[in-house]
Amino acid sequence: MAPNSVVITFLIALPLLFESSQATGDATYNVVSYGARGDGKTDSTKAFLRAWSSACSSATTTSTVYVPRGTFLLKPLVFSGPCRSSRIVFQMGAATTLVAPSNYWELGNSGNWILFIKVTGLSIYGGTVDARGAEFWHCRRFGKSCTAGARSVSLFWCSNAVVSGLRSMNSQTMHIAIDNSNNILIQNVWIRAPSSSPNTDGIHVEASTGVTISASTIMTGDDCISIGSGSRNLWIERIACGPGHGISIGSLGGSVNEDGVQNVTVTNSVFTKTQNGVRIKSWARASNGYARNIVYRNLIMKNVDNPIIIDQKYCPGNQGCPHQSSGVKISKVTYKNIRGTSGTQVAMNFYCSSSNPCWGVKLQDIRLTYLNRAATSSCANIGGSKSGVVIPRSCF
Ligand SMILES: *[C@@H]1O[C@H](CO)[C@@H](O)[C@H](O)[C@H]1NC(C)=O
Repeated sequence: MAPNSVVITFLIALPLLFESSQATGDATYNVVSYGARGDGKTDSTKAFLRAWSSACSSATTTSTVYVPRGTFLLKPLVFSGPCRSSRIVFQMGAATTLVAPSNYWELGNSGNWILFIKVTGLSIYGGTVDARGAEFWHCRRFGKSCTAGARSVSLFWCSNAVVSGLRSMNSQTMHIAIDNSNNILIQNVWIRAPSSSPNTDGIHVEASTGVTISASTIMTGDDCISIGSGSRNLWIERIACGPGHGISIGSLGGSVNEDGVQNVTVTNSVFTKTQNGVRIKSWARASNGYARNIVYRNLIMKNVDNPIIIDQKYCPGNQGCPHQSSGVKISKVTYKNIRGTSGTQVAMNFYCSSSNPCWGVKLQDIRLTYLNRAATSSCANIGGSKSGVVIPRSCF
């Protein structure tokens, strides 16, 4: 080899050495090096995808996509796996914001704005995402032909993921969606949308196993956390929920053949001025679905309209709803140490299916008041037991 070509080979190899280091080390891919600009105006979508592609194909143990301070404009994008690295980090700084285009049509019918798909060992740290959903909500409320709307951050078919320190605001629809995934930890997230914004659930979990949601503040126009069919082994703790519609299992029974929900614990959480506290809801139609082994404990309700509710005749807006009895089977639900104030007279509302009554429901140490007096409870088709002091008095 001529000396010149040795030099040239070395020069070509140099940036590669810096970018990828050795196969066992770490590598960082800064989106700015790929052409992203944090000026809030430049479309950085392609740059983010290129940085992801480099990180995902890196042979290092850990590879990091780094987003420095600044405001980055992004159209819908899909970060796909599987990746070569066993750990892939999407790192944003404290002053990093990702914004959607101001025209809501640009998220179009994509369904998801920032979507991670089939990634194992993903960590998303820090940052703020702002989907600027206001005009979309307005269209939803008053318009005739709107786009379908997009979730802000979605993880589909992911495993061993962590989402930590993320702030998500003004999503068009759900803020964080976990679907068909397992072993997911979501912690220290902050979610905010106006209480009047439609369907802006905080965190939605669907068909996923082993999901922990911890130490998070969620203020939205819909459920703080919603849990759909096929979800199991969920641990939800230290959530400040409100405004919003509470923490809901359901709506279940949307279709006849539907997987159930089981082993869900909600603990050490506070609900402030929410429409519901802890709710299980199903449509009134035939279904193979179920919800079982659910534990709600150590919860505080502050002026919550329906602190404890099972609604098997769920029918929002009373429009076009089925009127059969729900096929969803609800059993082994424990309510323990739930205290505070109800915003309505009926603090415990159990409206179970006439064809599939709820069974194995336990009430222990409940104290819910309404206007400084004992609230009331209401029951249909439910059986179970109570222990300790239960106020309002159990109706089963
Ligand atoms: C229930 O879920 C928790 C995680 O929330 C898990 O640790 C536990 O093993 C699960 N129990 C069963 C019986 O699967």
